[in-house]
Amino acid sequence: MSRADFSADLPPELIPLVTGSVLNEGRATVVVDAARIEEAKRAGVEDAIKRAISARSDVEEVRVVMTAERKGPLIIAVGSGKGGVGKSTLTANLAIALAKGGVKVGLVDADIYGPSQPVIFGTQGVKTQGLDNKPAPIESKYGVPHLSMGHLVAPGKALAWRGPMASGAISQLIEAHWSKDIEVLLVDLPPGTGDVQLTMIQKFKPAGAVLVSTPQDLALIDAARAGQLFDTAGVPVIGLVENMSGYACPSCGEVSDPFGAGGVEAAAGRLELPFLGRIPLDMAIRQGSDAGEPPAAGEGPMAAPFNAIAERLQAWISAKS
Ligand SMILES: Nc1ncnc2c1ncn2[C@@H]1O[C@H](COP(=O)(O)OP(=O)(O)O)[C@@H](O)[C@H]1O
Ligand SMILES: [Mg+2]
Repeated sequence: MSRADFSADLPPELIPLVTGSVLNEGRATVVVDAARIEEAKRAGVEDAIKRAISARSDVEEVRVVMTAERKGPLIIAVGSGKGGVGKSTLTANLAIALAKGGVKVGLVDADIYGPSQPVIFGTQGVKTQGLDNKPAPIESKYGVPHLSMGHLVAPGKALAWRGPMASGAISQLIEAHWSKDIEVLLVDLPPGTGDVQLTMIQKFKPAGAVLVSTPQDLALIDAARAGQLFDTAGVPVIGLVENMSGYACPSCGEVSDPFGAGGVEAAAGRLELPFLGRIPLDMAIRQGSDAGEPPAAGEGPMAAPFNAIAERLQAWISAKS
């Protein structure tokens, strides 16, 4: 089998649509980027390519493959083994830091049982406007359009949802009316390895996952388990983040380690995964989150650890696209 160049045989307007071709014992296979062709014109293009190439004396048969690759945003899942480790806090602040760095980013709050993004972004009580039967993301003053179960149904309504209902909900959020220029969709997953995570992985296969853990042993073990789920599904773990890492006393400034510190970096080393950075335990982070004023949006020292992690994530994204 060898690569073939059929540009001399094709009408000039079709040449840019072809992304690859091979010729093997008289059988030509031509790969076409379907995303560049209106749906109604695809059959016509296929016929035209077949006609043009079968005119060659060395070709007996032509196969046209339309790559229907979903040309949507890059999906990056933020997961954790345990709840309460700061996954939602990290996702929101990373999204804001990425947006400040010029990335067009949207955020999906996939924690349908315990949505927290409406509180963090200060958009609680805002209801989504539907467009073409799809929910529209909520704009925020932080440059990050986001969408949560909390914007779709009354609080507490989703609590009884299991299985298909939960999976349907997550699809609605991801397939919402995201603006065409969104490059990256950060997804705040619920903790653990349940239905929503499985739907996420099977239906939307994220480009990568960020795992958050506190330095505590149990949280670390659970994080490793969550990492395994992504790994098995072929979703690369972009790296680990240590949250609530060391506590700076607001009055005396002395740094103590309520949950230990450095455990996540050590675990990343053992698991041979990149370590993306640490975020200290700081009252100001909790207060900002509760007040709809995420720290990454400000210029204070609390933005720095989020900016540092966002820079590493941005490097990964650039290498990817
Ligand atoms: N680094 C931190 N310092 C102080 N409080 C934090 C920090 N990270 C998270 N929190 C607080 O801890 C609680 C749980 O965080 P959250 O992001 O909701 O966790 P998860 O999404 O993993 O359940 C929230 O009240 C949040 O404001
Ligand atoms: Mg959460």
